[in-house]
Parts: sequence; structure tokens; C-alpha cells
Amino acid sequence: MSPSNRARGCLITVEGIDGAGKSTQVEHLATLLAARGLRTLTTREPGATSLGRELRRLLLARELALASDAELFLFLADRAEHVATVIAPALAAGAVVLCDRFADSTIAYQGHGRGRDLARVRRWSDESSAGIAPDLTLLLDCPIALGAERRRHENDRYEILDSSFHERVRAGFLVEAAAAPQRIRRIDASRPLAEVSAEVARVTLAWLDARGYSAAPASASA
Ligand code: TYD
Repeated sequence: MSPSNRARGCLITVEGIDGAGKSTQVEHLATLLAARGLRTLTTREPGATSLGRELRRLLLARELALASDAELFLFLADRAEHVATVIAPALAAGAVVLCDRFADSTIAYQGHGRGRDLARVRRWSDESSAGIAPDLTLLLDCPIALGAERRRHENDRYEILDSSFHERVRAGFLVEAAAAPQRIRRIDASRPLAEVSAEVARVTLAWLDARGYSAAPASASA
């Protein structure tokens, strides 16, 4: 890895349908990376900032009607604030940023799921993240019936949508993964938790090792 990239840190995102087990894997990875002495920032979308928490409430409230572009732009406002105030400063400080959902969720849910024009969603999504894109994405993939079983509650705007919506989202993630195989690694999340965690760890640590992130960077102790 070049010294300039090394100074920048890296952005690792975890993606998947509702109930795929992202949050558990993000927690597990954060613990693993911290144990390696890597300076790690764990965050999520939507809702990681003060503005984001307000937007998350509006976005998930099923009783609040949202026009499709209003929904899209609220997610992108959440991202713009998140990138500007949390992600970009952490990357500049050399941290490994671990983010539970990012731009691929917008492409999968608002693009493939809602059936909106993909090129347009992609263009606006790129605008909102100010040139910051994931370096590595772990796609936790499982059948939607399994995701539905694993969900603890079923009452937000997305969880109550029918299975055909979630099928389109899952298929959308897989299309995106096929188009960017170097960045997006599909992980079969239908297996027992220990197996999924082991593969998440193996893929991530190999990726970090290959880029010189395994030894604690000088900034890790700062
Ligand atoms: P999340 O917090 O991951 O859901 P959960 O509470 O089930 O862990 O995300 C909330 C919902 O927002 C989820 O159904 C996916 C949706 N979402 C989008 O539709 N577009 C986006 O750009 C993002 C980031 C999330």
C-alpha cells in the first residue's frame, strides 16, 4: 500500500437484506480489529449523527408518507452529514472505518427495491458521499425467508414491505456484487453464526493484511 493510502485509513462496509445478521457481524469485527491494535471506528446508516437520528426516525416511521424522491434524498442527507462529520475525518486520521450499511443499501433498496432509475440513484448517491466510497464491502447474503425469521421486530417502513420487495433488494445486492467482485465479497449468511463470523474475519483480515493494515499503525495508539 502506498504511504498516501495508508495515511487515509479505509472504509469497510457491511451490507445485506434486513435480518441477514449485519449488526452482529459488525460488532464481532470491531472487537477483532481492536484486538489487533487497529484504530477502528464503528458506525452505521441511517442514524449515526444528531441529524441522522432525526432522519432515521422519519425514514423508518411507516405512518409517515414519503414520496419516493423524498425518501431517497433523506437517506442521502443522512449520508452527506455522516460522511462530512464522521467518516471523512476518521479516514483522514488513518482509522479503519466499519460502517453498517452505506451506498450499496441505497442502490439496492431505493434503486433495485423501489424500481427507480439506477443511473440516477447512483449519480445522486455519489454526490452525497463527496467522493468517499467503500474500499471493501462484505455482503451478507441469505434467503429472504431466513432474514424474515431472524428479524426481531417487523414494524418499520421496510420490514413491513412484502417479500417481492425484499427479493428485489437481495437480487440487487447480488447484481452489484457481480459487477464489482474485487470490492464486494459475498458471504453466505445462511450458515451457522460461528461459520459466518469465521469467514467475515478471514476475508477482512486477509484484505487488511494485503494492504499493510495488520500491524498497528502509528496513529493507532494516538
Ligand atoms: P438498519 O438500521 O440496518 O435496519 P435494522 O434496524 O433492521 O438493523 O436499516 C434501516 C432500514 O433502512 C433498512 O430496512 C434498510 C433501509 N435503508 C435504505 O432503504 N436505504 C439506505 O440507503 C440505507 C442506508 C438503509
